[in-house]
Amino acid sequence: MRDGTSPHLIIVSNRGPYSFYNRDGELKPERGSGGLVTAITGVAKTHNVLWISHALSRGDRKWVAMQGDGVHALDDMRVRLIAPVPSTYNAYYNVISNPLLWFVQHQLYDTPRTPVLDANLWHAWQAYAEANKRLADAVVQTVSQLSGPVIVMPQDYHLYLMPRFLRERLGSRVVIQPFCHIPWPGPDAWRVLPLKMRREIVESMLMADRFGFQTGRDVRRFMQTAADVLQGVAVMEKQRILTYRGQVLEAAHYPISVDVDDLTRRREKPEVKEYVRQINARIGERKLILRVDRVEPSKNILRGFLAYRNLLREYPEFRHKVEMLALLVPSRTEVTEYKHYLRDIMALVGEINATLGEPDWEPVQIKLGNNYDRAVAAMTRYDVLMVNPIADGMNLVAKEGAVLNQRSGQIILSEEAGAAEELGDAPLLVSPYDVYDMREALRKALMMGDAERTMRASRLAEQVRQNDIHQWFGRQIEDAMRGAR
Ligand code: G6P
Repeated sequence: MRDGTSPHLIIVSNRGPYSFYNRDGELKPERGSGGLVTAITGVAKTHNVLWISHALSRGDRKWVAMQGDGVHALDDMRVRLIAPVPSTYNAYYNVISNPLLWFVQHQLYDTPRTPVLDANLWHAWQAYAEANKRLADAVVQTVSQLSGPVIVMPQDYHLYLMPRFLRERLGSRVVIQPFCHIPWPGPDAWRVLPLKMRREIVESMLMADRFGFQTGRDVRRFMQTAADVLQGVAVMEKQRILTYRGQVLEAAHYPISVDVDDLTRRREKPEVKEYVRQINARIGERKLILRVDRVEPSKNILRGFLAYRNLLREYPEFRHKVEMLALLVPSRTEVTEYKHYLRDIMALVGEINATLGEPDWEPVQIKLGNNYDRAVAAMTRYDVLMVNPIADGMNLVAKEGAVLNQRSGQIILSEEAGAAEELGDAPLLVSPYDVYDMREALRKALMMGDAERTMRASRLAEQVRQNDIHQWFGRQIEDAMRGAR
């Protein structure tokens, strides 16, 4: 496929596939480990992939200063890093992208108090547009040096204004096909934002050729939002086509997934096996309830512990017989909501262990930090995996657990995780606000007979195997190529 005629795929994202670090006086690239990087690294072996992103770390900026901000080959792909203006970047990332758009889309506001949109925020909105424009400029310049078809794929909520900047400059020279990784809520949730902002976002999105979302539900809610925000949008619901001022947009869904082969290989790593040994030594005959999360307020970690506390109080026969292990990766600790959330988690766990624990049994064990080998080990070994977000684009922990687990473990899954749409009734579905429901799901999972356990666990694993990360990206490229000119 990689020849002069195959399309160029230009991925654009806030965080790029590599970060540069100083090792023994030399700048060395380290590849990121997220799903997107994994999928695209695979595709880069057979396609012309060029990835444009911000230079974020000190090492990244140094690399740009030394090498220039042109296109450089790294492994199988080409990358281009753009060093942002620090104050613009701060407003784009720390005022608009994360505290505003991400919160709107996960519907996490305590609306009597937040958000308060003020002059500072409107100022930051300009910066969001500027940051989008700067990355779009880099795309435009890069495209001018390419021949043949080009597909541009901006990623996530950081880049909603990019389709407009690209279309205005490049017309139909490129196929524009962005993907939104986080949930798209309905029109009422978006009304937290003033109409002008909603319009700018939706108008820009409608200038793409195709917009990818995680679930069918996201697609439906996007179509409703577009019709709510802009007069004159015609929606063909069944075909998922939106037309507006002569432009035609297709809304599609591509549920993101995990790399099944890579996970299966990881399970065999000596480091992982050593963690399995340690976990077994601690848990012994008890049943393991596991959760693995970034510490984000959307993950509903507090209610998960409340449900577990209720289980131990209501059904004391489980005491000593179970243990909960929470592997938590601290995230955005400079943002107040995140800092307070972690503080509240630690306080609640302290209370549970102090009031229900006994000298020879600690009900909850928390491990803070980013240790993927340990997470993989724990996922092979859980009896119950709790995945109960208030809102989540997909939630890959549920999919990783389904593939890795070797004990016919059950998954308690929030109906608000994107994964719920795909995994059907193989997991135990719960409402994320209902602590009673979650307590009963825990009890059911712990008491379930072998036949049902095996049946549910194998359906989970099978479902994930059928749509792994390579299918996720492959389907997007196939659809994009149909329009590539
Ligand atoms: C959240 C979102 C993801 C996004 C990530 C970016 O977890 O749910 O969709 O990719 O943030 O994290 P970063 O650390 O790069 O800002």
